[in-house]
Parts: sequence; structure tokens; C-alpha cells
Amino acid sequence: MKPSFLVRSCFEGIRDYEQVIADLEGETGFLGSFQFENRPRSRTLHLADECENLSVDGEFDSDFYFSSRESAENFKITLKERWSKDSQIQEIAGEDWNQKWRESYTGVEAPPFWKIVPEWNKKQEEIENKKIIRMNPSLGFGTGEHPTTQLCLSALANLDFQVDWEVMDFGSGSGILSVAAAMMGAKSVDAIEIDDMALESSREIFKINNLSEKQIRLLEGIPQTKKYNLILANILFSILKEKSQELVKALKPNAALILSGFFVTDVEGLAAAYLRHLPKYGQRLLAQDDWACLILSPKDHL
Ligand SMILES: C[S@@+](CC[C@H](N)C(=O)[O-])C[C@H]1O[C@@H](n2cnc3c(N)ncnc32)[C@H](O)[C@@H]1O
Repeated sequence: MKPSFLVRSCFEGIRDYEQVIADLEGETGFLGSFQFENRPRSRTLHLADECENLSVDGEFDSDFYFSSRESAENFKITLKERWSKDSQIQEIAGEDWNQKWRESYTGVEAPPFWKIVPEWNKKQEEIENKKIIRMNPSLGFGTGEHPTTQLCLSALANLDFQVDWEVMDFGSGSGILSVAAAMMGAKSVDAIEIDDMALESSREIFKINNLSEKQIRLLEGIPQTKKYNLILANILFSILKEKSQELVKALKPNAALILSGFFVTDVEGLAAAYLRHLPKYGQRLLAQDDWACLILSPKDHL
């Protein structure tokens, strides 16, 4: 079992911690973090809901886990330079992180019918009127807890999804959205991801959900010629902007885009970047806390 590297620091109030987590999302090597007397935090978890009854003031310890010493060292430097925080690095047994997850993770729901359950909880397999995504949330990015993943799941359920659709999941993380698209009946899903740990974890989630490589393929880049009926992209705002032309080019006529990973304040700029290439398209906005998800599709399909 590979060791992981714990960076322990101390934060005052909750907002800085939230910002640190937001900055870490998508960073290679970041496994996750714990805070509040060892309450588990996902690398993707937005704090607002759980912190309603907690004081947002005062100091609390925060543990950040990384898969390599190098990424832990880099984070230690960032903490010092950007946040003026001292921290210590500790090497720990690889299973420590996974074990913490297993003890703490009960799964999450996303409207209208999604339920993400840990694969070790067999009791939750059969739930009436729910689409169950099973996963082992110990590796890679995306446990379904982040509002943007939940918004994408809801957006997916809101489309008039057709069973012959070919779908791209750009920045697929641990593959939750790819699994969801396959469960909606997609003919094929191309999951595009560059992070090795996320790739490892998506192979596992595809297996756990009995999906074959025929239904979902893992790719490390956007195919140059293939066109899709639906593109899902839950990824950093800057990447969404940078890739707008490439993603639009990969759309079949009348295809839809589900974009998330950014804040409500960024919606206008992002929608403009896409809609200037798609004059007949309109937008629909879903939001949770400050997070946004845009559905872009031909106006008469919205
Ligand atoms: C915000 S996560 C989304 C994960 C998942 N789609 C979800 O909704 O839970 C974004 C993912 O994009 C990946 N990523 C970042 N840049 C990428 C790129 N240029 N190509 C493919 N994947 C990328 C990151 O490694 C990360 O796993």
C-alpha cells in the first residue's frame, strides 16, 4: 500500500479553509482533507450546509492528504506564501486515508432520483425509484458530495435523454457523471481525464457499476474528429473558457452541453464564451449555494 502525506495546519474561521479547498480542487496528488475534530471532508465538499450550526470563528485543525511528498511539499509552500500558515508534513500508511473514508462515508442524494452509495454498503443497493450509483470513494476526485457534481446529475435528469446518444464527460474525475450518463441509456460515453488517480478510481467505479469498456472509454484528451450528442464538463472555470471552441466543435447538430465547476458570478462570462459560437442556443441555469451549472442547448429544446 502506497503511503500518503498529511499536511497539518490550523485555520481561523471557515472561509479561508473553504478557499484553500477550492484552490486545491483538480490539483494532482490531492486526496482530501479533514477538519473539525476529525470530521471527514471530501476534497470536493462545500462546507456551507454542514457548518450551519458550527461557529465560523475560532481556530481549528485541518489535515490535508496528498498522494506524494512532492505535492505535500508544494502545498506546504503555498500555505506559507499565500496564507502565512505554518504546517507539518507527516508520512502515513496508505490505508489510513481510505479507512477514514470507509468509516465516514454514507453516500449522497441528488435530485430527482440519484443516490450515490458506497460499494461496501450492500443494504442500499435496492432503493425504490432511485438510480443507484455505487462507488468506492477512497481514490481520485469526485465522490458526488460537491454541489457541482450534484447539479450536473440533476441537469442530466432534466434532459430529454435519448438512448442512442454519444456522450463526452470532460474532466471525468472518478467517473460519476459517466456512470450516470450510461445509466440514462447512453450508447457510449467517452470519459476524458488526465489525473492518474482519478483514472484509477474511474476504472473501479465502472467495474462496480457493471459497465464495460464498450459503454465507457477512458481517454486522456478530447478526440479530434468525434462528435457528441451531449458534452458534460464539470471542471475549472479557466479550463472551460480555454476549451470552449474545442468543446463546441465536438457537438453534433442540436447537441447539448452541461457545464459546471464555476460560481454563479461567472455564469455571464462563461455563457457568452460558448453562446457566441452557438447562435441558436439558449441557456438554463441551475444553482446550489454559490455554485452554478449551465445547460446549453437549442432554444426550442430548453
Ligand atoms: C471538478 S473535477 C470533476 C469530476 C467529476 N466530473 C465530477 O463531477 O465529480 C474536474 C476533473 O477534471 C480533470 N482535469 C483537469 N484538467 C483536465 C484536462 N485538461 N483534461 C481532462 N481532465 C482534466 C481533473 O483532474 C479533475 O479530476
